[in-house]
Amino acid sequence: MDNLKNPFAPSAGSQPPELAGRMEILDRSRIVLGRFKINKPEKSFLLVGLRGVGKTVLLNKIDEQAKNENFKSILVEAHSEKSLGALLIPQLRQILYSLDNSKNINQKVKRALRVLKSFIGVLKLKMHDIEISLGVDPELGAADSGDLEADLPVLLEAVAEAAQARETAVAIIIDEIQYLSEKEFSALIMAIHRISQKQLPLILVGAGLPQLLGLAGRSKSYSERLFDYPKIGPLNKNDAITALQEPVKEQGVYFTQEALEEIMVKTKGYPYFIQEWGYHAWNIAQEGALINLEDVKKATESSLKRLDESFFRVRFDRLTPYEKKYLRALAELGTGNHKTGDISNKLNTTPNKLSLVRNNLIKKGMIYSPSYGEIEFTVPLFDEFMRREIPVFDEII
Ligand SMILES: Nc1ncnc2c1ncn2[C@@H]1O[C@H](COP(=O)(O)OP(=O)(O)O)[C@@H](O)[C@H]1O
Ligand SMILES: [Mg+2]
Repeated sequence: MDNLKNPFAPSAGSQPPELAGRMEILDRSRIVLGRFKINKPEKSFLLVGLRGVGKTVLLNKIDEQAKNENFKSILVEAHSEKSLGALLIPQLRQILYSLDNSKNINQKVKRALRVLKSFIGVLKLKMHDIEISLGVDPELGAADSGDLEADLPVLLEAVAEAAQARETAVAIIIDEIQYLSEKEFSALIMAIHRISQKQLPLILVGAGLPQLLGLAGRSKSYSERLFDYPKIGPLNKNDAITALQEPVKEQGVYFTQEALEEIMVKTKGYPYFIQEWGYHAWNIAQEGALINLEDVKKATESSLKRLDESFFRVRFDRLTPYEKKYLRALAELGTGNHKTGDISNKLNTTPNKLSLVRNNLIKKGMIYSPSYGEIEFTVPLFDEFMRREIPVFDEII
């Protein structure tokens, strides 16, 4: 079929042609934001799910919802090489600038700018443009201790008070939140704790891999009560069918029932893979015909090839030889979660000896612990990729 008209969007964070199965979570977030805006008690929330389930797409939608509710909303993506402070500063500056108004000066807004200036000062960030353009003196003694857990709450509280003074609210949206350090996560939790106690209008929305649950728990035990953690999973069969059928139907094309069943089997309902299979099946299918089982079988080949070259490959290439061995042993045990002891047995060693490599893999976002002593891949179908990539399992680590 005509490649140019292909509706599918297999790439990280791309808006899918049909956002299937996410009405409930989006209704919920709309209600949370709406209630929050009118000062009703609502919790901040963090979306939790594996790679490729559609968390980033949802955060973009929630950002839109927040803007529609007239929130001052910022969306940032955490990564291991950039500090939380450095991520937030330019965005918070933007918010405060939009709240600032020379004709109608507000002391809370001015104070928040001064607190931001203090915060930047101690972070010693080389962001000269910000230092110059803030145009205020630092607020001495506020957010300038150099301890993020003390300073971030002061800063965010000042921002929230500024928003309140302007009768608006702030949404801070953070993607890949599992990449924050324990200290940063803890500082964020303490800030939200303080803000919710004072009922100030600042909400945190985040998304991340399942390891964020452990990170939050370790940082602050009360984080469990402070946040909601909606789980984002694969699509069920009906939603997966909608995700495939609706976009092609618009162009007068249909998948046969068998074709849909086959895609469901291969993708297990994971949105990223649904886009990938849909994309290839469309290109392979004959012009003017239904997309059938044969097309999908061929699509499986080209989908896997492309995933192996990109989605899986970029993650594989970031691994040390040791980490590859560990993951290959995990893959040898088959799909699903496995005991750390079984993994070490496969490598003729003990779980203790593997704890370092295991922790590094968790930090890199490759694996997580679904329950105590258990390990699973964070990337669906990665076990099959590992077996394709390293066909012969070697027990020596
Ligand atoms: N509800 C959905 N229905 C169909 N496709 C989706 C849905 N959510 C996401 N996708 C697609 O899945 C892929 C991964 O989405 P993304 O938001 O990057 O996932 P994550 O952030 O969880 O890794 C993208 O190609 C996107 O278009
Ligand atoms: Mg994402």
